[in-house]
Amino acid sequence: MTFTIGYLIGSLSSGSINRTLAGALVRLAPDDLELREIPIKDLPLYSDDYDDAYPPAGTALKEAIEGADGLLIVSPEYNRSIPGALKNAIDWASRPWGTNSFARKPTGIIGASPGGIGTAVMQAQMRSVLSFLDAPQLNSPEAYITFKPEAFGEDGQVHDDSTRKFLTHYMDEYAAFVRRVLDVDAQGHI
Ligand code: FNR
Repeated sequence: MTFTIGYLIGSLSSGSINRTLAGALVRLAPDDLELREIPIKDLPLYSDDYDDAYPPAGTALKEAIEGADGLLIVSPEYNRSIPGALKNAIDWASRPWGTNSFARKPTGIIGASPGGIGTAVMQAQMRSVLSFLDAPQLNSPEAYITFKPEAFGEDGQVHDDSTRKFLTHYMDEYAAFVRRVLDVDAQGHI
């Protein structure tokens, strides 16, 4: 069985290191995961004034999340927190009230920064948001990536052995987590 995984990149930057990281994760994922980006860049800023008539970008976001078996968040840390564009997308997907698209979606969080703590503070805050949205999360391994440009090549290649090994392990564990959560779901236990 193949699982469809939607990934959200928390950066709108054309030279995003997190987009580079996402490319590596796509390449290193086990064969039973099919990864697709869920774009966030065209979303207006959310207001509940939209709740009666969601614009196409908001509807497309919700449909993409709801259609995925699992989600992967690949994001930078901005000012020790979640980048505004990503938080905006999460707010869109969480509404209108009673239609939270994140509910029960097995979700992984990973991020890259040039800095030593590799998005750890953003990820802690993201866990709080996703818990409120009832999204089960991969707890271990944690993935705080200190980005070294020389470790990553074109088209998702990872030149550094230990980085490639760790990211492969992360994706294997994420895949096992998705299978576990969806099995449990099918039995009605969560
Ligand atoms: C940053 N950066 C940053 N890095 C970090 O480790 N912790 C932080 O709190 C911040 N804060 C922050 C705020 C803003 C507004 C910017 C633009 C940048 C640096 C950041 O990690 C770096 O720019 C990355 O390259 C951002 O990831 P993308 O956009 O390249 O994927």
